Amino acid sequence: MATVRSLISAEQIATRLVALAGDIQQCYGEQTFTLLCVLKGSFIFAADLIRQLPTRVEIQFVTASSYVGTQSSGHVHCDAWDATALRGKHVLIVEDIVDTGTTLRHLQQQLQPVGVASLKVAALLTRTQATAPAPDFSGFALGDEFVVGYGLDLDQKYRSLPYIGVVEP
Ligand code: IMP
Ligand code: MG
Repeated sequence: MATVRSLISAEQIATRLVALAGDIQQCYGEQTFTLLCVLKGSFIFAADLIRQLPTRVEIQFVTASSYVGTQSSGHVHCDAWDATALRGKHVLIVEDIVDTGTTLRHLQQQLQPVGVASLKVAALLTRTQATAPAPDFSGFALGDEFVVGYGLDLDQKYRSLPYIGVVEP
């Protein structure tokens, strides 16, 4: 495997997550809410985030994909899932990275007819160039670089890296 240059260390991620969870908790107060973990990229972020939140917080999963290699295909595919399970719930979409926002828009469209109580977004990474609406909770801003690690992949590899980095050519 190629080497990966670290961009955001495991320690930086852990520190930021505590603050992010604090912001989220402050926003929801005593209310019960449901994390909607967007697989596969968000599985580590969601697992670490939920362990910083109260035990009443629920979690659901959706598998969405739009990337081929380092390029967005522009089309989002969601594996079969039951969006109606979220009816009446306060939903917090948990995304690894908001890039073009295509995935988010697709999920928002799927959730709209369901009738969720509220819909917010937490993203570990947000591209500074993103044309999408800014997430309600964002971990780190990111430039143009294609990153891997902490759940994010390049052709399904590198997800297990504890830090976020760039694959060196
Ligand atoms: P969007 O639909 O263009 O916002 O893209 C969002 C999805 O593309 C993310 O949830 C990731 O799965 C994937 N993605 C975008 N940029 C990267 C990257 O730098 N590394 C790994 N995956 C990425
Ligand atoms: Mg994703």
